[in-house]
Amino acid sequence: MAPKVEIQAVAKRFGAVEALAQIDLDLQANEFVSLVGVSGCGKSTLLSIIAGLQRPSQGQVLVDGQPVEGPGRDRGVVFQTATLLPWLTAQGNVEFALRGEPMGRAERRQVAREHLALVGLTGFEEAWPAQLSGGMQQRVALARSLCYRPQILLMDEPFGALDALTRHDMQELLTGIWETHRLTVLFVTHDIEEAVFISDRVVVMTPRPGRIESARVIDLARPRKPEIQSDPRFHELADSLLRGIRQQSQSGQPDQLSQTGQPDQPDRTG
Ligand SMILES: Nc1ncnc2c1ncn2[C@@H]1O[C@H](COP(=O)(O)OP(=O)(O)OP(=O)(O)O)[C@@H](O)[C@H]1O
Ligand SMILES: [Mg+2]
Repeated sequence: MAPKVEIQAVAKRFGAVEALAQIDLDLQANEFVSLVGVSGCGKSTLLSIIAGLQRPSQGQVLVDGQPVEGPGRDRGVVFQTATLLPWLTAQGNVEFALRGEPMGRAERRQVAREHLALVGLTGFEEAWPAQLSGGMQQRVALARSLCYRPQILLMDEPFGALDALTRHDMQELLTGIWETHRLTVLFVTHDIEEAVFISDRVVVMTPRPGRIESARVIDLARPRKPEIQSDPRFHELADSLLRGIRQQSQSGQPDQLSQTGQPDQPDRTG
């Protein structure tokens, strides 16, 4: 089957900064792929090029074989902060995203309600963003980006600002939605365990210029429950990814590394 998303030789420059160089990556339909890598390696830049919010300097992105020319309703985007409109209720924020859809007022209300229910916010339809916790605001943001039924969901550290418990709830919520709705997801995170827990494949990027260093298939059974985090295989995968990232973040000093012959000293663990 043809890939859902094809990233072909994408490069991006900001003046003298080569943010991305020669990125080639395919996302299969219904695949959940995480992007990890040190700060500044170009994760957000790549995600926003796929979203159509930025243009690549070279190369192209295809969705269902068609070049991305700008943002589109085939791709929902969720950022680290919810960016809700403060003067609209939860329901109002989701309905606002549906403006321009060919549906009447009553249907728009209904679709917004259904999507708030999907993210567990039944009963909070009339709450204002300021009355909602960070996790609940992020649920509204998720409902907002799912309500027009995109087949692709692009998420840039969507749970990065949440506390650990809320983050786990959100990971389970997202996994559940993905398992039932079979979306193609590209998920940027700094949290390796989060990436292993939710992904089919984790792609490691390296900085200066941003490139894809490696990719790892996460062959853990689904559905995944929190208990999987005590599975030795889970830790094997997380450790090997972390080693890959640490190696590349130290690769600015190759001589030093080859001198010690031990790029994986445990002193940088944790
Ligand atoms: N609009 C911009 N103008 C100039 N430089 C930019 C711009 N956006 C990103 N960059 C540069 O491109 C590189 C990649 O940035 P990007 O934000 O994509 O990294 P990232 O992997 O998302 O980092 P983080 O993990 O900190 O979010 C960095 O060197 C950054 O400074
Ligand atoms: Mg970023």
